[in-house]
Amino acid sequence: MTAMPTDAVVVRPAARLRGTPALPGDKSISHRALLLALLAEGESRIAAAGDGADVRSTAGVVAALGATVERVVERAGRVDYCVTSPGGDVLVEPEGILDCGNSGTTTRLVAGLLAGRPLFAVLDGDASLRRRPMGRVVEPLRAMGATFNGRGGDTLLPMAVRGRARLSPIDYRTPVPSAQVKSAVLLAGLAADGETRVTEAVATRDHTERMLRVRGVAVREETAAGGTHAVALTGPVRVAAITETVPADPSGAAFWLVAASIHPDAELRLEGVSTNPTRRAIIDILRRMGASIEEIAIEGPGGPDGEPLADLVVRSSELRGIDLSPAEVAGAIDEIPILALAAAAASGTTRIRGASELRHKESDRVAGIAAGLGALGVDIRVESDDIEIHGGRRLTGAATETHDDHRLAMTFAVAGLIAEGETVIDRAGSAAISYPGFFRELEGMRA
Ligand code: S3P
Repeated sequence: MTAMPTDAVVVRPAARLRGTPALPGDKSISHRALLLALLAEGESRIAAAGDGADVRSTAGVVAALGATVERVVERAGRVDYCVTSPGGDVLVEPEGILDCGNSGTTTRLVAGLLAGRPLFAVLDGDASLRRRPMGRVVEPLRAMGATFNGRGGDTLLPMAVRGRARLSPIDYRTPVPSAQVKSAVLLAGLAADGETRVTEAVATRDHTERMLRVRGVAVREETAAGGTHAVALTGPVRVAAITETVPADPSGAAFWLVAASIHPDAELRLEGVSTNPTRRAIIDILRRMGASIEEIAIEGPGGPDGEPLADLVVRSSELRGIDLSPAEVAGAIDEIPILALAAAAASGTTRIRGASELRHKESDRVAGIAAGLGALGVDIRVESDDIEIHGGRRLTGAATETHDDHRLAMTFAVAGLIAEGETVIDRAGSAAISYPGFFRELEGMRA
């Protein structure tokens, strides 16, 4: 690896990959732990949280709304937080804008949390976040009684929120599967009079539900015929302060799962990874492609939020192309870039169908994957929202563009481990959005 101006990194092929990369704390759980600590009166302790820029954005917002956020211990991309809050009933009206940085999760969950609190706040973020659609949370939160004003007909940041102490409950069906929208509505539902229900066509990550339950909120769950999934809670209700440990992020582990699977001489061990059924699709999809992933469940109660945990051992294998349905894409939404690389190294054709939501992430990931992998010599075609990859060609190093998107940066870096020659990742620093230390770990795995 050679550092270059403008934050570019050069990755050269690795002869072997061995080791136990340090993984970040789960980003989704870390955001929620901080926000729920803000709502809970008293002291919450969050061990091993992700220490990427996104989670730091949430920590900044939590402090601006009146909690004391202390970074107790820092190690290898993780941080232990101690959060002391006056509680959700007495939040402080923030003096300045709430800077959500690059984080869609921060923005949407904070919008839901603020909807039911009687104060005025303005949410803003970086250029990428200002392009991302916020109408999907504004619509249900407005229907519950909160006021939103923003650019683009109240769909884009910067966005002003005026919340209310009491909201009307809602029975809401999400138009696209989104854990962020579901979580925003549930957080608002904590301040609503009566039952708030969210129904989704595909069950998305359920951390908010699990984490509310361990904090004393009864969250009901129903799966109806046809696979629709509903969650409901009855407000108004308070959340309790707790102590918890955040598991390793399966979306960060995904880069190593693919790196070892596609490399001819690899064995990597990934410790304490959440194997939550709503997050483990990457493991199951890779196994369907022929990956060798051993899963050693960690005994005990699982995480404090009932997160099942496992150590994973992944070894070199011969992958085969597969078809991914739109529902499978929704279940592995953050892992599609790295899965596309797995498909490029696999024999045969992979079809990824219904990937439109990928266009609304930190960058247009459909375009970014096609351009980046295409530059490395992959036969990749995009038709509307479907991606087709004809695998098996030798990858050749080239310049790739990350569009400041952390998951694209890490995908192209992993590609560089097997591509011939040098792979240049422009603006590679974006990896620190979710995985600080990623490039250090990448170099450390060269046996
Ligand atoms: C997240 C939900 C997903 C995911 C994002 C994190 C969450 O977004 O892509 O990285 O923590 O709830 P959507 O809900 O927009 O699909």
